[in-house]
Amino acid sequence: MNCRVIRIAVIPGDGIGVDVTAEATKVVRAACDVSGRRPELVTLPWSADHYLETGVTVPPDGYARLRDHDAILVGALGDPRVPDNRHARDILLGTRLELDLYVNYRPVRLLDERLCPLKGRTKDDVDFVVCRENTEGLYVGIGGRFKAGTEDEVAIQEELNTYKGVSRIVRYAFEYAKASGRSRVCMADKSNAMQHGHALWQRVFQEVAATYPEIEPRHLYIDALVLLMVEDPSAFEVIVTNNLFGDIITDLGAALQGGLGLAASGNLHPGRTSMFEPVHGSAPPLAGKNVANPMGAILSAALMLEHLGLLEEATAIERAVRQAVVARQGTRDIGGALGTRETGDYIAAAIRG
Ligand code: NAD
Ligand code: IPM
Ligand code: MN
Repeated sequence: MNCRVIRIAVIPGDGIGVDVTAEATKVVRAACDVSGRRPELVTLPWSADHYLETGVTVPPDGYARLRDHDAILVGALGDPRVPDNRHARDILLGTRLELDLYVNYRPVRLLDERLCPLKGRTKDDVDFVVCRENTEGLYVGIGGRFKAGTEDEVAIQEELNTYKGVSRIVRYAFEYAKASGRSRVCMADKSNAMQHGHALWQRVFQEVAATYPEIEPRHLYIDALVLLMVEDPSAFEVIVTNNLFGDIITDLGAALQGGLGLAASGNLHPGRTSMFEPVHGSAPPLAGKNVANPMGAILSAALMLEHLGLLEEATAIERAVRQAVVARQGTRDIGGALGTRETGDYIAAAIRG
């Protein structure tokens, strides 16, 4: 075993981000205690509270500090007191861009059939991964408002698609399919309406697919894809799409697996410091009430450990979460009667055995 101390930056953030991150770190410690690891968890206060108190979203050396860690674990960012979402743009989107975390890896996996909102679907039917492009598209902030606040206002938001950016995410999707024994990759765009940017996606997809003869490529327009996600989720193994479409379809994916409280994600740049977070947001009405489901955050922490090569710990966490879900030892959204903390305690205890 490699005994180098693993350093993890933890950003609980806002709202239920704070609640669920406490449980995710509790469970990480339990899994590491069992395996004999001692990771160093360094909590950073970056959040709406911190921004409102200090005027600072991310300090000047902030991204460099993050790069100095092996991984980053985030709760959620978003607060009604910051209506322009400035801090979340710097902390969350800023980290994705500054650390060049070009893959937003979002598994959609049904852990228990009773949680699927679709009739008659089994666990085998809902098991795919969305590879969302995470550094380009409509998220780059290129544009502006002219004559803002007047009746002549013009607002422009540009979508950026580069050959390099599209190529690397499409290639990641094929590589992931190959490495995980999956045989189908579906690319979704809107090239029938967006004849410039999405023609580039078409070109790249065809080029990359030709180099993976063992993988079956498929293309769907994004509107047709969401229809099929509901009608027959078993049609998918790996989906690759742009930043905005990936954001939207992964909330739908979360619904297919039993709700936002269960959905996990990783913002990855293979070989570099990557960031892990649940798909859900800060859910202000639930904040601090011990009701938020921490499982999405806990499963994101498991993805983090897997990414760091701590496979034994990651597997132990996934197994304990699955068992808790099936036994209804969780929050109300999954049919349980536990609070956030008690759910974390249950999973940690199951891991400790
Ligand atoms: P949300 O994900 O916070 O909540 C959507 C719905 O899901 C709500 O009904 C909420 O109660 C429920 N929900 C979410 N997480 C849950 C959990 N763990 N357990 C039980 N129920 C859960 O989305 P929203 O309401 O659109 O956004 C609230 C804020 O969060 C906004 O500021 C938004 O920008 C931000 N946001 C942040 C992230 C992130 O940090 N990654 C993601 C999405 C939204
Ligand atoms: C997500 C979130 C973010 C996004 C928001 C908070 C900017 O919805 O991670 O899914 O759109 O990427
Ligand atoms: Mn989202």
